[in-house]
Amino acid sequence: MLRALCRYIPNSFVNALAMTAPETPIDVALARRQHLQYRDALAECGVAITTIPGDEACPDCVFVEDTAVIVGHVALVTRPGAVSRQTEPVEIARALDAWCRVIRMEAPATLDGGDVMQLGNTIYVGRSARTNAAGIAMLEQTFRSRVVAVELPPHVLHLKCVVSPLDHDTVLLAEGSLPPALFAGFRIISVPREETYAANAVAVGSHVVVAQEFPRTHDALSAAGFTLHPVPTSEVRKADGSLTCQSLVF
Ligand code: GLY
Repeated sequence: MLRALCRYIPNSFVNALAMTAPETPIDVALARRQHLQYRDALAECGVAITTIPGDEACPDCVFVEDTAVIVGHVALVTRPGAVSRQTEPVEIARALDAWCRVIRMEAPATLDGGDVMQLGNTIYVGRSARTNAAGIAMLEQTFRSRVVAVELPPHVLHLKCVVSPLDHDTVLLAEGSLPPALFAGFRIISVPREETYAANAVAVGSHVVVAQEFPRTHDALSAAGFTLHPVPTSEVRKADGSLTCQSLVF
């Protein structure tokens, strides 16, 4: 059975990092209700969820995806690229220890899990403001898989802001974001430019947890045979968050 590790939202989430300050402040109570809807959607997909306490000293701690990369029973616990996030992995490592062999990333490596996408036997990794060459090298050493480094445009925070894996041979890719040739041999479901945010989705078998209010993306996913679980994202979006970043699924 698939598991997901999530983390409760602290009051300090109102101060979470954002590339652009939101027009209205984060409503933390609403963010918590939306986080519950997200966890319920994952549970509907058959995922067993463990949620650990948040940490007031870590405003971004709900974004657990950035703190580890898990392949099989090995968890590479990362050193996130934003200094304010570098203590988040401590509790994540402790929690993952129950299920995985935990390996810790050391300085000077930095890597955010949101930059890492597994697709078949290939691991794609975004070269971003958060993920450096040493982080990518440690990813290669740890998993000994085929690793493809992808240059990200400066306005894209993480690789998975524009592309998500749907199954072993299918990706959901925002139009105009990355060259489709990167995913040659895989089936691509395109997200129209005006719905780019919807390119981040969590797939569990034939089920997909997807952001609400992106009808063209929903139609494309339904036409491809996926069952959709739309969830609200207004508050995490104010902190540059979306769906994959709120869980570690393994
Ligand atoms: N607010 C999420 C991040 O910047 O990492």
